[in-house]
Amino acid sequence: MEYTYLGDTGLEVSRFCLGCMNFGSGEPWMIGDREQSKEILDRAIDLGINFLDTANVYSQGESEGIVGEAIEGRRDELVVATKVYGPMREGPNGQGLSRKHVLEQAERSLDRLGTDYIDLYQTHRWDENTPIEETLSALDHLVNEGKVRYVGASTMPNWKFQRALYTADVENYERFVCMQPEYNAVDRHEEANLLPVCEEEGVGVIPWSPLAGGFLTGKYERDTDPEEGLRADADEYTRNRFTEENWDVLDEVRAIADERDASPAQVSLAWLLHKPVVDAPIIGPRTIDHLEENVAAVDVDLSDEEIARIEGPKRPSWPAEGKD
Ligand SMILES: NC(=O)c1ccc[n+]([C@@H]2O[C@H](COP(=O)([O-])OP(=O)(O)OC[C@H]3O[C@@H](n4cnc5c(N)ncnc54)[C@H](OP(=O)(O)O)[C@@H]3O)[C@@H](O)[C@H]2O)c1
Repeated sequence: MEYTYLGDTGLEVSRFCLGCMNFGSGEPWMIGDREQSKEILDRAIDLGINFLDTANVYSQGESEGIVGEAIEGRRDELVVATKVYGPMREGPNGQGLSRKHVLEQAERSLDRLGTDYIDLYQTHRWDENTPIEETLSALDHLVNEGKVRYVGASTMPNWKFQRALYTADVENYERFVCMQPEYNAVDRHEEANLLPVCEEEGVGVIPWSPLAGGFLTGKYERDTDPEEGLRADADEYTRNRFTEENWDVLDEVRAIADERDASPAQVSLAWLLHKPVVDAPIIGPRTIDHLEENVAAVDVDLSDEEIARIEGPKRPSWPAEGKD
């Protein structure tokens, strides 16, 4: 495994972060088995992954609970990231980024994770109903209490992110040191939105859905219905990747994979690792085989010409349809 510093921080993280969204039973395409999930976590740590990403909303706390059991006895070696924002209960203050909800959910996440600190506490989305000053002051308080080490954010228009960074600077609050954007070889809109800000501001980048929910593994075919049980069968997100332009990108990825004796998943992940702005793609394996295949992408070295071939079919732009 290779390691890097997360953005401008002194925090060392593996070049792949292990996404823990699949660990739980909230959706039919998730693993739905605690022991199998913990085996994947164990194998990931054996392979040198020290960076784990979960969220309070993943299967309503089940994912955090599984991570908590898996990290027991080796917590300090690991960089544990979780998120707050999504709905955790019905009624007023059951979601969002108010001081009340953030402080309550930080405690709930700490309990489920079985730890007394979160390494990276991330806002999952922008809260239109809470002033950013209120959220930042709540996060700042958690850092001052020693319950959180670093704060991060996910997925928003660049002007909102710039406002959050600026507000933290002028109010002397902890600054977001990391951004979690959707980024992969077929979803490149962030090249025209958040990524230039991250580059300029020294903010670490940990892309989510680095294989476009499995589309970039090459397991689906044009004009063919997805096999039952696979993510695209049950999940609109992956199914929505089936567009002509995206199939053209996949054709290039598959051709390069053949030429290099690698898999399309490895070429797609290597493409992300070659982006200087990217620190650690968040891989979401459903099996140990997926995990081992994906981690081996650190050894796939792409040429500039191969990178240009993968990028040829698409022109990234922002705003992008269906993204906000
Ligand atoms: N911040 C956010 O809003 C946000 C949003 C989404 C995700 N995330 C984070 O990002 C992580 C990864 O997201 P993701 O699960 O969408 O990632 P992804 O890597 O794009 O997709 C993962 C899915 O692809 C398939 N797959 C993965 N590796 C494979 C391989 N080598 N061969 C064949 N199939 C393979 C599996 O589905 P099948 O086997 O069913 O095909 C797996 O569930 C999550 O766990 C979470 O931590 C964050």
